[in-house]
Amino acid sequence: MLSQLFRFYFRLFSRVLTSACIHRKATSAAEKLSHSAVKPVMEPKLYQAPPEVRGMTSLDKGAFTQTIAVPALRVPTRVLNKVMKSLKKSTIQRPGVPKVVQDTEESSDFRLVLLDPHRVSSTSSFSEAEAEALRSFGVAEELQYHELQLTYDNLKSEEVLEAVLPQGQDVTSAFSRVGHIAHMNLRDHQLSYKNLIGQVIMDKNPGVTCVVNKTNIIDSTYRNFKMEVLAGEENMVAKVKENSVTYEFDFSRVYWNPRLSTEHQRVVELVKRGDTVLDVFAGVGPFAIPAARLGANVLANDLNPESYRWLQHNCKLNKVDSKVRTFNLDGRAFIQGPVKRELPVLLKEKANVHVVMNLPALALEFLDAFRGLLQHEVPCDDNLPTVYCYGFSKDKNPDTDVVKRASGSLGLPLDKQCSVHFVRNVAPNKDMLCVRFTLPKEVLFSSHHVQAEPSEEPAPKKQKCEETTEST
Ligand SMILES: C[S@@+](CC[C@H](N)C(=O)[O-])C[C@H]1O[C@@H](n2cnc3c(N)ncnc32)[C@H](O)[C@@H]1O
Repeated sequence: MLSQLFRFYFRLFSRVLTSACIHRKATSAAEKLSHSAVKPVMEPKLYQAPPEVRGMTSLDKGAFTQTIAVPALRVPTRVLNKVMKSLKKSTIQRPGVPKVVQDTEESSDFRLVLLDPHRVSSTSSFSEAEAEALRSFGVAEELQYHELQLTYDNLKSEEVLEAVLPQGQDVTSAFSRVGHIAHMNLRDHQLSYKNLIGQVIMDKNPGVTCVVNKTNIIDSTYRNFKMEVLAGEENMVAKVKENSVTYEFDFSRVYWNPRLSTEHQRVVELVKRGDTVLDVFAGVGPFAIPAARLGANVLANDLNPESYRWLQHNCKLNKVDSKVRTFNLDGRAFIQGPVKRELPVLLKEKANVHVVMNLPALALEFLDAFRGLLQHEVPCDDNLPTVYCYGFSKDKNPDTDVVKRASGSLGLPLDKQCSVHFVRNVAPNKDMLCVRFTLPKEVLFSSHHVQAEPSEEPAPKKQKCEETTEST
């Protein structure tokens, strides 16, 4: 009984003592701060880098270092975990900044829990639930101020760039990631800062070891960009995974767009084991290889010798080289050569035939290559090829526009015999669409069109595609 009474008074006494201690500390910390050069900055702009960094073109990481004051709570070590759970939303969230630090009085019985100054500016900033939790754990709500040294490493890339680039101008630091390569599309006003931007992107994104910028708009037949290395190693051979398939390629010499993964998957999911896929503009294989992995037989073609080389490499890498026959031909020569030779047999079989034509700037025009492709009609009503032909449109009615253009190339109105799938918006007022239709018998066996004997030599002449600011 006596010992219980003693324990009760002891707890009461230590609480009064602790609270007095905390109070004194809070007051003295505030006093100290109000007299020191470091003032508790409690405005949302707290994380802004020092103004001297504005206009910097070569990265000086040291110039970003500053000491700021952040609010903190002095929490008994024995309830620390519980308090951390209850204050999840109010604790500091900074890369590389600990949420809990040693108590300034170096007492192992207490820790300082650092709070997010954007959320907590006074004790009334705590939510009802947080305040209740603090009371129940016996934590005094008085705020302390902890001096924190923030360095370049604790800032996010947007914060660094916002501090450096001219005020009031767009600082978007968006990039596409292709393996270890970050691929940017810098605006004119950002170009004077290009190397600094590259370095910041590399520093702030683990795994990125090379940052490139497109130096011109896409204008080559092969749909690849000229690019300039802004930071990091000059290694353009990327390794990426898309829909569980691995691809390797030289990003500076072939076409690859990480934004097409959903479209690749959508089409591949329509392919069944035993089907045949005829990929006219195959690139490095994102339709052809997954289709072959599903058990389809594939004929894959690309005019770019580099794409062709990486396509073959990727077939081997994914162990489907026995299922994919590769060609390095112009799309028309591919249709009028290997495709023309294969079709009569395929049309007699039960398995489906899919023709994929992903060269949105030009593919709709290539559809004329199917006109009168076969001479002798074979019984194939149920098994005519399904075509997936891609096109860009800037029209007010993009669906109608692409169907009209496909019909014009085929020489037959498709109207209701096709469906149009919106793939993506590639630029303001410019969409990428996929027209899907069963290749009409009237086109395939049209006697009006005389087929020129195709040359199966790769076409050496480059056609200039429609220019676009997007990598499609
Ligand atoms: C937009 S990319 C699509 C590549 C791939 N199918 C994909 O989805 O990522 C178009 C491809 O067509 C190839 N190409 C361009 N003109 C061609 C032509 N006349 N005949 C065959 N391939 C061509 C380019 O080299 C490029 O790899």
